[in-house]
Amino acid sequence: MNIGKIITIAALIIGAATVANAANATDGATIFKRCVVCHGKSAEKVPPGGSIVSATLSAEEIKKSLKLYKTDKEHGGKMKASMQIQVKPLSDEDIDTVADYIFKNFHIEK
Ligand code: HEC
Repeated sequence: MNIGKIITIAALIIGAATVANAANATDGATIFKRCVVCHGKSAEKVPPGGSIVSATLSAEEIKKSLKLYKTDKEHGGKMKASMQIQVKPLSDEDIDTVADYIFKNFHIEK
């Protein structure tokens, strides 16, 4: 293999890795799209079977609640199973990002 081919292949690999990284770097708006169906487009709705409007919570409360849905089977109300499924694919970093996004954009005083 000549040096030109090696450089071309290396460039392709780096290019592919950059694209993969961009896809992984999810922002709050992208993550929040998955929540809209139940929580409303501004987190302003009481989700089906739930009792709280997420937009009234502080960023810290949202983070804590989401992390507990991940780690504590007892956390939440009678619909906790639906949130356990939601948080499963999210990393702690994703949770912080989406919680900050909700608080920053949609917070409503109780
Ligand atoms: C399938 C519907 C559904 C989806 C999608 C969903 N949720 Fe929920 N969410 C609920 C329900 C129902 C509850 C109440 C669960 C319980 O009884 O503990 C809840 C509870 C919560 C709570 C606890 C406090 C509150 O507002 O009731 C937070 C915070 C929350 N969801 C955030 C999110 C975020 C962020 C996403 C997107 C990553 C999301 N939810 C996606 C249905 C959903």
